[in-house]
Amino acid sequence: MKVKLLDLVPQFERIKDEVLEAVEGVFAAQQFILGSPVEELERRVADFCGIAYAVGCASGSDALLLALMGLGIRPGDEVITTPYTFFSTASSITRLGARPVFADIDPLTFNIDPSAVERAVTDRTKAVIVVHLYGQTADMGAIMKISHERRVPVIEDACQAIGALCKGAAAGSMGAVGCFSFFPTKNLGGCGDGGMLTTGDKRLAENLALLRVHGARQRYYHDVMGINSRLDAIQAAVLNVKIGHLPEWNEERRRRAAYYSEGLSGIDEVTVPHITDGNTHIFHQYVIRVPRRNELKAFLHESGIGCEIYYPVPLHMQKCFSFLGYREGDLPEVERAALETLALPVYPEIPREQQDYVIERIGDFFKGRH
Ligand SMILES: Cc1ncc(COP(=O)(O)O)c(C=O)c1O
Repeated sequence: MKVKLLDLVPQFERIKDEVLEAVEGVFAAQQFILGSPVEELERRVADFCGIAYAVGCASGSDALLLALMGLGIRPGDEVITTPYTFFSTASSITRLGARPVFADIDPLTFNIDPSAVERAVTDRTKAVIVVHLYGQTADMGAIMKISHERRVPVIEDACQAIGALCKGAAAGSMGAVGCFSFFPTKNLGGCGDGGMLTTGDKRLAENLALLRVHGARQRYYHDVMGINSRLDAIQAAVLNVKIGHLPEWNEERRRRAAYYSEGLSGIDEVTVPHITDGNTHIFHQYVIRVPRRNELKAFLHESGIGCEIYYPVPLHMQKCFSFLGYREGDLPEVERAALETLALPVYPEIPREQQDYVIERIGDFFKGRH
């Protein structure tokens, strides 16, 4: 049997007519950048997250960069974040000449550990970027407490977490700014790159909308130093169709995750994902922790099963960040996670027989039946 890590074809089949009609509408209007589909998506994402404002941009990476620019991050500032994440969480900081200060993670959730954040705060700390990794929110109660006490704004990297909830509050609605990615493989994915910022602060929203268009309120009159990071109308048209289905798709992912966790519960070596009380996890990834991870990965690949490591090299150990001076051993939980985690195939339409096969092969591996 072949099991893909992710198969986007069945989802497209479900919504093909709606998507093609929406795309045709964009071609008929011949307005390809920003415009009414983007405004509609901004309203819908804001409503979906229960927050006042949303600003479309070109990618999740740009959303992070714009969020930091909007908060006035400058060269020499420190921004605390996790190194157990996708690259651009930290590169957005260094692109502005600021310094990422890496904090360790909670080994249960793989999200940033609030006590490590607390210890990392200095007079130079100007922001904290939390990442809601794999689709589960970080401990936002504790993080926001630090934010208020130390007067440091929080950026939520919610690129993997659209629809995730922390005690009823949506990812992207709790900090100063939320950042989303519409990369095609995300739970809400476009047909190319796309991103969104969310905020409850009107002035910040206006500033972000300005920064994404070269800082120009009026064309060729530049008030501030911005960038080109606009969302395309085609992306917005596709996403406007998909966002209506998102709650159902997230629910289907949750059900499939629960099925794995039940099926894998009999295998002692496997630690299934932890869901913190009061959280709604949207399972962008279903990630287990196992001994002999690399061997298991190779075995599953030989068995025709797609699986992936997110992330094999933590950011503090990346060559491009060597100038920050981190050493192996500095962030033990992050380094352990990078050696032990493995993402299994999960998406709303994955057939049950395929999940059964994945569970069976993992069982065979640890029981030595191979
Ligand atoms: C946690 C996280 N942050 C940032 C990004 C960057 O998003 P994008 O690929 O849209 O630039 C991603 C997605 O790739 C992500 O998973």
